[in-house]
Amino acid sequence: MKHLLSTQDLSARNALRLLNVAEEMAAVGQREIKKLPALRGRTVVNLFFEDSTRTRISFEAAAKRLSADVINFAAKGSSVSKGESLKDTAQTLEAMSADAVVIRHPASGAPARLAASGWIDAAVVNAGDGTHEHPTQALLDAFTLRRHWAKLDGTPSAGTTLAGMKVLIVGDVLHSRVARSNVWLLTTLGAEVLLAGPPTLLPVGVGAWPCTVYYNLDDALAQRPDAVMMLRLQAERMNAAFFPSTREYSRRWGFDDGRLALLDTMGLDDTVIMHPGPMNRGLEISSAAADSPRSTVLAQVRNGVSVRMAALYLLLSGDSQDDPQDDQPENQADQPDQLATTPEGRTP
Ligand code: MLT
Repeated sequence: MKHLLSTQDLSARNALRLLNVAEEMAAVGQREIKKLPALRGRTVVNLFFEDSTRTRISFEAAAKRLSADVINFAAKGSSVSKGESLKDTAQTLEAMSADAVVIRHPASGAPARLAASGWIDAAVVNAGDGTHEHPTQALLDAFTLRRHWAKLDGTPSAGTTLAGMKVLIVGDVLHSRVARSNVWLLTTLGAEVLLAGPPTLLPVGVGAWPCTVYYNLDDALAQRPDAVMMLRLQAERMNAAFFPSTREYSRRWGFDDGRLALLDTMGLDDTVIMHPGPMNRGLEISSAAADSPRSTVLAQVRNGVSVRMAALYLLLSGDSQDDPQDDQPENQADQPDQLATTPEGRTP
């Protein structure tokens, strides 16, 4: 794995390895000194062609906790707005010796283009491309789910999968890269995935995805999911009317107070409510649901730093080789105690 571009091509083994290393990174986050020298002398560039707050600062915090130098590049106000191409921008970064480029772009496929172009040598991390994929979001969601699942089971989360878990993803699937990345990753990790949304907001071909589709949220909730992941309604990507009104959308598709109470009535005491943020409170999720003890929203943000640390570490430390043979001994980075017990980390 030289790049992290999508979850569709991420093997279960590589996904689990990354989640296990993220557990070690999370342990580092509990220490008084939350820093490892693992990427000292390395440069990570955050190349953002689309607005973002949480993802960019999460990558920045992750890189800094690994002692990398971080350059933040926002397209707005840069030479990109004067017409500079992706190639020119990338080559400028290459000339500054970037070791990793974390790219967010409104065009689906831009990170893959950058990775395959030969313009740069750096590792490319997809931080969200158009409506295509957002792999680190799905990894942090899987990390959050896995911790919850393991806790219910009374077992450590490192090493476990999501086998037996039922995850319901709700809303604007059509425009959601988060939904796509989650469908691939969660099924790879053994979860059963259910999708619910209005027909206008489900992509053509969704029937071929490895999940069951519902056109009524309450029918989907009746399947007793272990987690309900609400998607943001991506108004900025809508160029047509996809539903009659926001009021109608929120009544039919929002996780409102009534549906929150329904989980209690159904005895679904352990079902969690997720949202990748930013949330449209009162539209796809009510404030009571977003702030309830069932909500994992803040845990997702926290876990995002650990997962992105793991991704940068594995890509830049040289420990990220794919293992074609699953019976090979696990390499050093897989061992749960490696990072936690080595405060000085391992220089690449
Ligand atoms: C994304 O960038 O896709 C976000 O994390 C989720 C959203 O914008 O709805």
